[in-house]
Amino acid sequence: MKVDGQHFRSIWLEPDGWSVGAIDQRRLPHEFIVATITTAEEAGEAIRSMLVRGAPLIGATAAFGVALAMRADASDAALDRACKMLIATRPTAINLKWALGEMQRALMPLAFSERAEAAYARAREIADEDVAINHDIGRHGLGLIETIAATKKPGEPVNILTHCNAGWLATVDWGTATSPIYQAHDRGIAVHVWVDETRPRNQGASLTAWELGHHGVPHTVIPDNTGGHLMQHRMVDLAIVGTDRVAANGDVCNKIGTYLKALAARDNDVPFYVALPSPTIDFSIDDGIRQIPIEQRAASEVTHLTGRTSDGRIETVRVVPEGSPAANFGFDVTPARLVTGLITERGVLKPDHAALARAFPERAGIR
Ligand code: MRU
Repeated sequence: MKVDGQHFRSIWLEPDGWSVGAIDQRRLPHEFIVATITTAEEAGEAIRSMLVRGAPLIGATAAFGVALAMRADASDAALDRACKMLIATRPTAINLKWALGEMQRALMPLAFSERAEAAYARAREIADEDVAINHDIGRHGLGLIETIAATKKPGEPVNILTHCNAGWLATVDWGTATSPIYQAHDRGIAVHVWVDETRPRNQGASLTAWELGHHGVPHTVIPDNTGGHLMQHRMVDLAIVGTDRVAANGDVCNKIGTYLKALAARDNDVPFYVALPSPTIDFSIDDGIRQIPIEQRAASEVTHLTGRTSDGRIETVRVVPEGSPAANFGFDVTPARLVTGLITERGVLKPDHAALARAFPERAGIR
């Protein structure tokens, strides 16, 4: 997508042909800074520190991390070391495991001398595939927005609620939840987005609002607790969120607070959609609530807030009394029964095993 008229992806291969550029998401919305990643260790640190984040982008970064590792040492031991280091960076987004599996499958059969070039080629392919998948997710999700615009809201904006950042910054481009929104906006359909701030790290307030603003999409940032009230007053036509992992039974793991939005949506008959690329499906587990590992992050993300002061300084301040413990569960699981549909690159699916396996037999191990 565009930043001040210039097209950017969230991650790219630099013109030198080997180092990797990425937007430093820790600095947004206050500063637009490009980071250069030159080693597998730096790629790991970029994921761990959330310089890059969002399930598909974590996967693409890990793939480039393996390419950087192969450039330095293409032995089996180095490949194994890099994959072990990268898989340990964040536990919930399954795209990380998927991307590392793809890299290992592509590289293991090759001679050492061929591995670096092949690793860069596969990493670039993974990034390009993500862009194409997200574009297709947008095409399928667009139909849902078009229908609401035509039947329920003629002449009025369609109000869409989203949580966290499942935008182009969380992917290589387009985003998942935002792709239908961008495509609707680009076609002249009036949309307005309710952006959950998404405490504790505020990915909605700082990243989704920044993205939508730069693309000219009307939006309003709301405190996380506002969605239920808006739904009761018919101010939300549909919710679209992203996901870090979908279990084979259709349970959806996403940023903490997603489950509460799904409950409120069900209570108010608001359609609740989840947008996902197929690498986010984990066919190896059949019970999202019990089997998906939930990342727990530092308490300081809850006890402190970072922002820009009126004289332009970036400051971090404490908002919780000294001595009060804080818990920071990064994700929750929305049971499949609360999900209206899964917007994938192959269409809008029912959130159940049969529909997922039918649409993605090669991933489900059928065929
Ligand atoms: O902790 P984050 O910022 O990596 O969490 C991101 C999310 O929860 C997104 O909604 C999810 O990764 C989907 S991204 C298309």
